[in-house]
Amino acid sequence: MEAHHGHDFYDQQGVLGKYVRYRTWKRCPNEVIEKPIILSLLGSELTGSVLDLGCGYGAWANELLARGASTYTGIDSSRKMLGFGKALVKEERAEFIEADINQWEYPAAGYDLALACSVLHYIANLDELLAKIRESLKQDGALIISVDNPIVSSFRTSQNRFSRGFERSHYFNQGAKIQEWMGEKVIRYHRTLEEYWRAITEAGFRVECIKEGLLLEDENESEEEENPIRTNFSEPNPNPFEKYIVSTIIPPFLIIKAIKI
Ligand SMILES: C[S@@+](CC[C@H](N)C(=O)[O-])C[C@H]1O[C@@H](n2cnc3c(N)ncnc32)[C@H](O)[C@@H]1O
Repeated sequence: MEAHHGHDFYDQQGVLGKYVRYRTWKRCPNEVIEKPIILSLLGSELTGSVLDLGCGYGAWANELLARGASTYTGIDSSRKMLGFGKALVKEERAEFIEADINQWEYPAAGYDLALACSVLHYIANLDELLAKIRESLKQDGALIISVDNPIVSSFRTSQNRFSRGFERSHYFNQGAKIQEWMGEKVIRYHRTLEEYWRAITEAGFRVECIKEGLLLEDENESEEEENPIRTNFSEPNPNPFEKYIVSTIIPPFLIIKAIKI
């Protein structure tokens, strides 16, 4: 099976449906771990313009606009993700742009906040991208990134990243690793915690906070609530994502907030 890159994977046949079902699942790790942490890092003073890199279908758009963001700009390379996002996010203050975040022409000092959730581990040259992001931020602008926790990304996996099938881990062996995701093989770039720190600080940011994502809610909770986002994607199995259920022993995310200096 051919391994895909992040910028083309989400337009492959059947991936959008699987991803939307996963991402809108009530116990999705993004919902139960990543979201509360990012909201706590945003605090109550969200007022300015937001750039969401690798925005997918804009899962953050309505939330951020409702919390006070003046505008939302989502950039993604996946036409299908953006098409779904445009149908979902009706706000006039939101715009979606189809582009590779490595190649997009970033406006100088255009944004107060840059968000990059679950996308930077698809990027080979982080230094170059961070320099562009920094230039696109206003003075004292904030960058919040969320990536696969290095303890997870250090594994090359045969089945899935969260529980079974781990093989050949070497934490300090950084670079491209092939991993299973949504039943396909994808290439992700593993970086150690200190490498993220180096890249962000050398790009001209001050790291304000690092979080690894402790699951705070009751692990045994199994009740499924109706999804607030209604999709047309059929649901073949009541819980097809059971294998992605998060545990309290392996942190799935590394979340970093940094300020432009
Ligand atoms: C796991 S999804 C995360 C989506 C969104 N940030 C969220 O939290 O729901 C990763 C997204 O990154 C996008 N992506 C990956 N590489 C990219 C690149 N080089 N340029 C633009 N988008 C990219 C994919 O198309 C996909 O929509």
